[in-house]
Amino acid sequence: MDRNSADNSTYVHGTSTDEQRRLTDMNTLINAGCMRELALQGGERVLDVASGLGQFTRELARAVGSTGTVIGVERDGAQLAEARKQAASQGEADLVEFREGDAFDLPLSKSEWGSFDLVHTRFLLEHVSDPLGVVRKMVAAAKPGGRIALADDDHDVMRLWPEPPGATDAWRAYLRAYDRAGNDPYVGRRLVQLLHEAGAEPRRNSSVFFAACAGNEKFAGLVGNLIGIMSGAREAVLKYGLRDPTYYDAALESIRNWGKRPDAAFWYGICWAEGVRPE
Ligand SMILES: C[S@@+](CC[C@H](N)C(=O)[O-])C[C@H]1O[C@@H](n2cnc3c(N)ncnc32)[C@H](O)[C@@H]1O
Repeated sequence: MDRNSADNSTYVHGTSTDEQRRLTDMNTLINAGCMRELALQGGERVLDVASGLGQFTRELARAVGSTGTVIGVERDGAQLAEARKQAASQGEADLVEFREGDAFDLPLSKSEWGSFDLVHTRFLLEHVSDPLGVVRKMVAAAKPGGRIALADDDHDVMRLWPEPPGATDAWRAYLRAYDRAGNDPYVGRRLVQLLHEAGAEPRRNSSVFFAACAGNEKFAGLVGNLIGIMSGAREAVLKYGLRDPTYYDAALESIRNWGKRPDAAFWYGICWAEGVRPE
């Protein structure tokens, strides 16, 4: 669990090697759907806030091509180091300019404020205690008429069937770890409202939906991602006294076993919204 004193936000997933592997695997599962929503044309100037391991940021850079620019801002040094390492290992060291910095205090020069065609963030607003503060900065970074795109979780929308014993309750404990840390596990449903309150004009509301079942090539990855986030939050769940460790671990084991069932099915959707900065 990574606590930041400057903005009083807590990143419940942490930055361990296992967690970085989970984030990498998740990117391969969902990036195509997120790219479809953004519908980049090529040539845009893009700012990706909380760029994490940078896989999606590099997808953005490939889509804008050599006539565009992409800057990724990430506050955590370990995430940035891994992002740079992954980019270099794929011959893309110069594709994105990764900058260390905080979403509440974006590391932009005077001339960069108000200059971006697209300011994007994914899976950040659920980890900060003041999401509106972040979206306000994003609007200020966009040029007049530029787009602000937000993608985040509403953790209420997940379905597993047949339901693994204890899974729903352990999931609830995981979500309680968010609100105990001062963050909103349901922020996804607020994206359009946040855009409006931050001074952008909302234009689109959508969902990046994914589902899979036993026998489907994506299923093992989705189950692994679910177990990864719940295992990663174990420390927070225990720290806040939200569940007994034996009970929480038994629920994780039951999800693992469910993942081996021939009749298991899974559904989830990421909330996605876009607004424009008024001219
Ligand atoms: C779940 S990851 C998402 C990374 C990436 N956006 C993606 O979709 O793959 C969230 C990232 O936000 C970063 N983060 C958390 N709070 C931040 C802040 N206040 N400013 C910048 N980055 C932050 C974390 O270090 C982490 O790398």
